[in-house]
Amino acid sequence: MHQLAEGDTVEVRGPRNNFELVPAPQYVFFAGGIGITPILPMVRRAAELLVPWRLVYGARNREAMAFRNELRSVQGGALRLVPEDTEGRTDFGYELSLIEPGTVIYACGPAPMLDALAAACSTLGLDSQLHVERFKGSGEVHAHQPADGAFEVELARTGEVVRVTASQTIIDAILPVRPDQPYSCLEGYCGTCETKVLAGVPDHRDEYLSDDQREANDTMMLCVSRANSRRVVLDL
Ligand code: FES
Repeated sequence: MHQLAEGDTVEVRGPRNNFELVPAPQYVFFAGGIGITPILPMVRRAAELLVPWRLVYGARNREAMAFRNELRSVQGGALRLVPEDTEGRTDFGYELSLIEPGTVIYACGPAPMLDALAAACSTLGLDSQLHVERFKGSGEVHAHQPADGAFEVELARTGEVVRVTASQTIIDAILPVRPDQPYSCLEGYCGTCETKVLAGVPDHRDEYLSDDQREANDTMMLCVSRANSRRVVLDL
């Protein structure tokens, strides 16, 4: 906004929601630590809709669990608190064994928790029922990434070539020459910086694209994704 001048036209849209509550006959929510933040309004919404819900909420200890009292006042469901200091970590296999067919599962929390939940869902054939919110990109490093971590980005509309060093994101590298490039979360989950890929092989590290979209390699998120080839050509 600080770049705006009086009289400039600004495009405005509503907020993006990449973690929408889909209709379901029943919900199970898993929250880890601060991951309760997006889960709390979902629990409230489920209660408003009179849809049965169960929330399993884990954290280091009971004192670290925000919104405990608010959650206790939500009707129509079951709340299970799992303080790690006295009960250990959530047993996802057990919790998932309790759910009814058609239950939709929502989870938000630290990456190891979400990975453990995803593995348990996969074992039980529940992958399609799982909806996960990750605050950070997975940050995986892929085998074909150039050894020094640097690569080039070609901006096809002008032919400019920008070097992205190991410590930079593509957004960092291109903003000096493309100051209007849109971005928002800078963590790979909002989709604002999605850009068409014309050539090269992206190393997708976002949480926005589906597996099919990643395989197609048609677009990439410039805020977190990198390259598995020496150069990627972008429609910029
Ligand atoms: S700025 Fe949000 S995905 Fe890149």
